Amino acid sequence: MIHAIRAELLSVPHDPRDAPGAVRHEADGLLVIEDGIVIARGAYADLAGRYAAIPTERLAGLIVPGFVDAHIHYPQTDRIASHGAQLLDWLDRHIFPAEKAFADKAHADSVAAFFLDELLRNGTTSALVFPTVHEHSVDALFEAAQVRNMRVISGKVLMDLGPDGLRDTPASGRAQSEGLIRRWHARGRLGYAVTPRFALSSSDAQLADAGALVARHPDVLMHTHLAENVHECAAVAARFTDSADYLDVYDRFGLLTSRSVFAHGIHLSDRAWHRLHESGAGIAVCPSSNLFLGSGFFDFARNDAHKVRLGLGTDVGAGTSFSMLHTAGLAYQAALAGGQALDPFRALYLATAGSAALLHISDRVGALEPGQEADFVVLDPAATPLLARRTHDADLATRLFALQILGDDRAIAATYIMGQRAWRRPCQGQS
Ligand code: GUN
Ligand code: ZN
Repeated sequence: MIHAIRAELLSVPHDPRDAPGAVRHEADGLLVIEDGIVIARGAYADLAGRYAAIPTERLAGLIVPGFVDAHIHYPQTDRIASHGAQLLDWLDRHIFPAEKAFADKAHADSVAAFFLDELLRNGTTSALVFPTVHEHSVDALFEAAQVRNMRVISGKVLMDLGPDGLRDTPASGRAQSEGLIRRWHARGRLGYAVTPRFALSSSDAQLADAGALVARHPDVLMHTHLAENVHECAAVAARFTDSADYLDVYDRFGLLTSRSVFAHGIHLSDRAWHRLHESGAGIAVCPSSNLFLGSGFFDFARNDAHKVRLGLGTDVGAGTSFSMLHTAGLAYQAALAGGQALDPFRALYLATAGSAALLHISDRVGALEPGQEADFVVLDPAATPLLARRTHDADLATRLFALQILGDDRAIAATYIMGQRAWRRPCQGQS
């Protein structure tokens, strides 16, 4: 099945910081899709002759690659906006009680369905997702992702030092992870990540097991939290007195590889920055969460010196929005707090191809290049009266930045998965 989309097209396949000219833009473009894969892309004037005979849909708005959320928790969907505490207290008061309810598979199924629909409503087509400690919470998420044909990477949370009702053991964690990898990894668009919650929630024995899992399955990811909040960092330093710093805890257990994704990285030593770069691991930057929990600001300027790979994550439920547009706008504000003005094209890169590279799926998604899967979003730069005024007659950079600062789910006119429309904003024409 071949069809085409005619529209304004924008993608940023490489980090503009390292590759000036990385921005790919066609004011009047054609995207040709066969069986869900992009087979041609370029200016309409250049391609129209060759593809004149195929059905072509004309879309108003700005088409960008589907967003890739590099760090989010689906079981926390119903606890977004929980008041009054920093990380460790917030986990105890709000999050652990919510995660206990996932002992019930039917509850997990219903939250997973709402969660993935909410991602689509916000233009997110791929994500690296924390479930809970319960094995079937992973099944629930993957089953729901399969129905929607979304690219989802996840893995059972390992936490043998967790609270009552939310604790596994090294043996059960190992066996369930192995079973889930066999059941789900590389099945269609799904992938597995070995997922120790964070250093504080696993015993040394379980962290060593996680390292062994990573070594035994070199094609899965490793996903955890790192150096997010000062109280957490103090507790890690108090427990792991032999480690040089927080990252070194993971390193010593074999959890620092080029396939490791660390959420946050707010409080990092120079040594840790250096090791992150050297290992090829990366950081999922989560600015709305960092602001919400009072954790601090990600240091973009320091990252420039160390060139650690970056993606962008919402980190819902500490994150305050499912919108990667809104999260990109907050990344701008976090960067500016450290003296750097994040370019809107670089912010789009982080939300798409950058996160895809972090998740090792950039051969499949993130840039709408020929050969990639045709996941994309139709952005409406006039989604609200204020956006319409701000973007009227504006150049591309101004429109994109306004969408990041003023836009959210309202600016998502439609979301496409492998060339098929998976979400359309109600009551708005788009063609
Ligand atoms: N560190 C350990 N668990 C969590 C979590 O659920 N959310 C955040 N933001 N940080 C964590
Ligand atoms: Zn998180």
